[in-house]
Amino acid sequence: MKLEIKGLFKTIKGNPILSDINFASEFKILGIVGPSGGGKSTLLRVIAGLLAPEEGEVLVNGERIPFGDSKELLKYRRSLGIVFQSWNLFPHLSALENIVLPLYRVHGYSMQQAEEEGRKLLERFNLLPHASRRPHELSGGQCQRVAIIRAVASRPFLLLLDEPTSALDPLMTSEVLDLIFELKNEGISFILASHHMSFLQKIADHAAFIDHGRWIESGSVQDVFVHPKKAPVVDYLSKVLKY
Ligand SMILES: Nc1ncnc2c1ncn2[C@@H]1O[C@H](COP(=O)(O)OP(=O)(O)O)[C@@H](O)[C@H]1O
Ligand SMILES: [Mg+2]
Repeated sequence: MKLEIKGLFKTIKGNPILSDINFASEFKILGIVGPSGGGKSTLLRVIAGLLAPEEGEVLVNGERIPFGDSKELLKYRRSLGIVFQSWNLFPHLSALENIVLPLYRVHGYSMQQAEEEGRKLLERFNLLPHASRRPHELSGGQCQRVAIIRAVASRPFLLLLDEPTSALDPLMTSEVLDLIFELKNEGISFILASHHMSFLQKIADHAAFIDHGRWIESGSVQDVFVHPKKAPVVDYLSKVLKY
């Protein structure tokens, strides 16, 4: 997919959070990395159409995100899948219902089609035995897997993943990363903010480094992770890859 960001500024409560972000590239999977507080989540929220920037524009596959038109913006948002760090699922619904209801209520599936699709997906990702469990009866990793399945159930053209494993232990993390890896073969493009450098190196074809609300460096994963040019990236990588 093609992403273009032009002269993007975003402030929150008067504080500059994203400053003069400019980017244009085509990629299948874009990994966003950088220190906490650097602006990754805010940028993903802008790309998701959830936060409007004060200045600048974002074009996805050549189309401007229509921040000024609430109807069109809703349509755009519904064409994406979004998974945040945690608290993605409706707590009062079972795993299956979490997947089925959005398909039925938002995406125009009949209840029967939605249930069939939901069961098929849960089965495919080995979660069918947990279909009737509510989030509090599932492990954190299972919850995140259900959340990712829900996000891709409507076949979005783009999936946004914001540190989907940050609240999980190593075993659950690897279950979730396995699932994300499988999605790579489904032809969905994604933008993934993550601190798992080795995973990003395996899965992403493009990487961007953001710090203090600024776009520091981007390019192929190889360029950014192995041959970074900018000092903040070199410094960050030397620290996070040390142990
Ligand atoms: N709703 C908010 N209110 C105030 N400050 C915020 C809000 N959201 C984000 N920020 C600030 O914006 C900066 C970037 O945050 P964020 O986009 O979450 O970075 P990252 O995801 O890279 O950790 C941080 O300094 C954070 O404190
Ligand atoms: Mg974040």
